[in-house]
Amino acid sequence: MKILNKQIINDVAGVKITQLDILSPDIAAKAQAGQFVMLMASEKGERIPLTLVNTDKIKGTLSLIFQEAGFTTRSLGGLNPGDSLYSLVGPLGHPTQIKKYGKIILVGGGVGIAEILPVARALKQAGNQITTILGSRNKDLLILEAELKSASDQIYIMTDDGSYGRKGFTTDMLKELLSKGKYDLIYSVGPIPMMKRAALASSEYKIKTLVSLNALMVDATGMCGCCRVTVFGQVKFSCVDGPDFDGHGVDWEELQKRNKVYSIQEKHICNLKI
Ligand code: FES
Repeated sequence: MKILNKQIINDVAGVKITQLDILSPDIAAKAQAGQFVMLMASEKGERIPLTLVNTDKIKGTLSLIFQEAGFTTRSLGGLNPGDSLYSLVGPLGHPTQIKKYGKIILVGGGVGIAEILPVARALKQAGNQITTILGSRNKDLLILEAELKSASDQIYIMTDDGSYGRKGFTTDMLKELLSKGKYDLIYSVGPIPMMKRAALASSEYKIKTLVSLNALMVDATGMCGCCRVTVFGQVKFSCVDGPDFDGHGVDWEELQKRNKVYSIQEKHICNLKI
């Protein structure tokens, strides 16, 4: 649980994205693409889930990338090489189903881009043809472009302000690609509105669409019910049944509402000094 390296990937316009490389041979040995860990930065902190971005089974290390957005992620970002996490549990959740699908479009937005990297690498290794669409508000906020380029056959960049790649949303490009070609799978990770729009766009073409849901979690072992999501009318727990689900069946409105339940408390905590 010792932090070996820390890298500030981005620190612009109030958005700070940090990578921590952590020594955890047991988790690294078992981790698969799409899984996550649950951690506490300090004894009095909350538990938060973070997707495993990189794992090195030989060195016994894992990398986590997160945006320092609230009290806990800022506390985590305040740790330095040599420090240790208070607790780290994982790997959790079902791995993404990796097999040969054929032609795949990966859609990543914001810090969700970090989460598609291990999936892109694993799907590419399984012999799939990978087209990746990355989206960010502007050029400065785009992360892991080079890494995803090497894991993809084609890559498209979309920025909200047009400062890099094409101006527009990832789903604009997704719709364009779907109208021109045949694809076998869509995999999308990012803000809820983006995943919802991606699922809506692909439903027209009846293409299987997996989304990795960022539901609120407390215990991550299926006991508290906090990460409840409704998929095709059935209650599922994101931590033990997911985090990947069929995007065409997700009740997006419910997920959006549930993720905002603690927004007032989060604002209050956010103002606390670390
Ligand atoms: Fe408690 Fe999933 S986080 S059931």
